[in-house]
Amino acid sequence: MTHLIPFNRPYLTGRELAGIERAQAAGVLSGNGAISRACEAMLEERTGTARTLLTHSCTGALEMAALLLDLQPGEEVIMPAYTYVSTANAIALRGAMPVFCDIRPDTLNIDETKIEALITPRTKAICVVHYAGVACEMDAILALGRIHGLAVIEDAAQGIEAGYKGRALGAMGDLGAFSFHETKNVTCGEGGALLINRPGLAARADIIHEKGTDRRAFERGETGRYCWQDIGSSFGLGELAAAFLQVQLEDAAAITQRRLALWARYHAAFGAFETAERLRRPVVPDGCTHNAHMYYLLLPPGRDRAAVLSALREHGVMAVFHYVPLDTAPAARRFAQPGPPLPVTADLAARLIRLPLWTGMGEAEQARVVEAVSDVLG
Ligand SMILES: Cc1ncc(COP(=O)(O)O)c(C=O)c1O
Repeated sequence: MTHLIPFNRPYLTGRELAGIERAQAAGVLSGNGAISRACEAMLEERTGTARTLLTHSCTGALEMAALLLDLQPGEEVIMPAYTYVSTANAIALRGAMPVFCDIRPDTLNIDETKIEALITPRTKAICVVHYAGVACEMDAILALGRIHGLAVIEDAAQGIEAGYKGRALGAMGDLGAFSFHETKNVTCGEGGALLINRPGLAARADIIHEKGTDRRAFERGETGRYCWQDIGSSFGLGELAAAFLQVQLEDAAAITQRRLALWARYHAAFGAFETAERLRRPVVPDGCTHNAHMYYLLLPPGRDRAAVLSALREHGVMAVFHYVPLDTAPAARRFAQPGPPLPVTADLAARLIRLPLWTGMGEAEQARVVEAVSDVLG
């Protein structure tokens, strides 16, 4: 077998080590330093959000969102089951319950037309996930939030640099969360950010982020000492990781452009296969500017996905499946509200494969993936 084309290869701008050296020379290594603040300012400017806090992960940002909304035991949050465990854990950690909503067949995002039927007097929030960096139907979802008095959280783990009708993903709901995990478009290994779009939540966010203390106010000279004010945790990102992130954020637009070119090549290559009903390609609705986070294919019903993935591997291509729907996972029986079946989620999650796509992937490598997929599905 020829060398295996990996699913992901973390991208380096080449300036990361110089950034880390600068951070080291500056002498502040813990979180909330000048470099973290510079990254936060960059994210605020790009997304138009009122306030951003860097976190150690998107998982941490989602946990902060749940704390900020004061989720209580017995309260419910409507969310898709087709997502990563962190979206549900943030809710379950507060003793609140995820209520799973089915997804749309085109984007695999939460189906906004099925949310209202799940609202009960216990519903506190809607948490959406912008799958593959393609926006959910936010106008409808934000309207539901307004009408029913529910908070809206955007899990925009995959959504950096992507937009919806001119607005940035993560900047539309009350709170939004980005991931900078190594699999994401912009990375520092492990990292994340919380976007605070409801200004009234910003002061408490400072405290929750700093282990439940008013240390930030102290550092701004607003108080003579800092102490325990509220519950909280150590949610910040260290300055060394922030320095790595800073150079990646500076290149974010260029990274997106390179990924979009790769995405477009896949999309063009598989058009004829879609016409022949051998696969289905991703859909990007009008008004959504995506970030080419992922290129996935949906296999035809009945096609054995495990066999397809192993045939691609035989051809030297590491393609992978994605989320196991959370409603089918063992923890759902303990932590989620039992709900109606989710036929679209079950169907699409079982048919989806993700192809290798990383910033800096070469044309020859991509051509090999296209050839392998053509051989296996053609
Ligand atoms: C939708 C979604 N939410 C949250 C996360 C967790 O992100 P992190 O690894 O930064 O905690 C992921 C990870 O891939 C994800 O896909």
